[in-house]
Amino acid sequence: MSFSVEQVRADFPILNREVNGHPLAYLDSAASAQRPERVIEAEATFYRTGYAAVHRGIHTLSAQATAQMENVRVAAARFINARTPDEIVFVRGTTQGINLVANSWGNRHVEAGDNIIISEMEHHANIVPWQMLCQRTGAELRVIPLKPDGTLQLDVFPRLMDERTRLLAITQVSNVLGTENPLQQMIACARLAGVKVLVDGAQAIMHHTVDVQALDCDFYVFSSHKIYGPTGIGVLWAREEILQAMPPWEGGGSMIATVSLTQGTTYAPAPGRFEAGTPNTGGIIGFGAALEYVTQLGLDNIDAYETSLMRYALNALETVPELTLYGPQERRGTIAFNLGKHHAYDVGSFLDNYGIAVRTGHHCAMPVMAFYGVPAMCRASFAMYNTEEEVDRLVAGLIRIHRLLG
Ligand SMILES: Cc1ncc(COP(=O)(O)O)c(C=O)c1O
Repeated sequence: MSFSVEQVRADFPILNREVNGHPLAYLDSAASAQRPERVIEAEATFYRTGYAAVHRGIHTLSAQATAQMENVRVAAARFINARTPDEIVFVRGTTQGINLVANSWGNRHVEAGDNIIISEMEHHANIVPWQMLCQRTGAELRVIPLKPDGTLQLDVFPRLMDERTRLLAITQVSNVLGTENPLQQMIACARLAGVKVLVDGAQAIMHHTVDVQALDCDFYVFSSHKIYGPTGIGVLWAREEILQAMPPWEGGGSMIATVSLTQGTTYAPAPGRFEAGTPNTGGIIGFGAALEYVTQLGLDNIDAYETSLMRYALNALETVPELTLYGPQERRGTIAFNLGKHHAYDVGSFLDNYGIAVRTGHHCAMPVMAFYGVPAMCRASFAMYNTEEEVDRLVAGLIRIHRLLG
């Protein structure tokens, strides 16, 4: 299928609306992407004609809803080239997926004196669960430092590892700087030292093909809402042998084999063991539609379009006076910046007046703000439905703000 941004835009009803009297330029997809009509429709149709609680019913609707949900597990497995759908755990999103690993795998495999390695560019979702695990266990959290250009000090990484290193938890793409980490190289290095690897794929999954077997990581986590699907659903992928050996972390219905008040409880095999309670079935159905949509468009097409749009944006932004960009020249999806000495909130509010939606603040990455010595940044992030014309509007808006505010 060939890629036409105009056709893609036509699939997203929200892109037709105006904001503050201007056509919406939605440059906040790294926070949450918009949904195409077919995702909205898939979820609505499910509620209109197919909804029932899954797994526990023998009636037709329940069986059909269960089959639909399990089909999405198969589709998700195919999407990231998992070996089997049993390696796919449905979670609320990246945050819950990482917390699951920290609590289940972490509580079992990490103890006092061990260490876990993260990087200075992580989202709080890939920092705080590990800090909490370290507090619980007496393990140490080690950090691969940033360089001013927004890449990691890769030479430091091997030196942080020792025989007590249990895990490298690393983002594939920084949600602030857009830096794509050289995971192949880092994972190979971790493997040599016998260190497990968790990849936070929240900012990568929508931009290019992800193959967890080729990556050779142990855990991969992402959220549906970043890849044009509903909120409240995401995927934790883990190697089958690791997942099957992990203890449950939340107890309740659906995750058990047997429950007895006298004999105790036995647990279902993974992935069921990690899916306690009634799942977000509507969200899962919408997620399935999103994966199908992106697959039909072709991730290679999306990648090529977005790469060219990013190049255009970086060139165009060079014309804005007193603009500080954060992050490397080669980047994915996001451009973080500050304009002169103005607070990011002021700049973001002005842009909003022109219908341009950017994110402002610490972007759930306070250590990145601390590294650059700023309280906040603006972040324009680009998805496959953004256009060069929207980039031009961003640039014109920033130039106008610079003139107005000085
Ligand atoms: C790199 C990264 N990791 C984790 C998350 C958390 O994702 P969620 O809020 O969907 O759980 C985000 C969300 O912005 C992110 O960008």
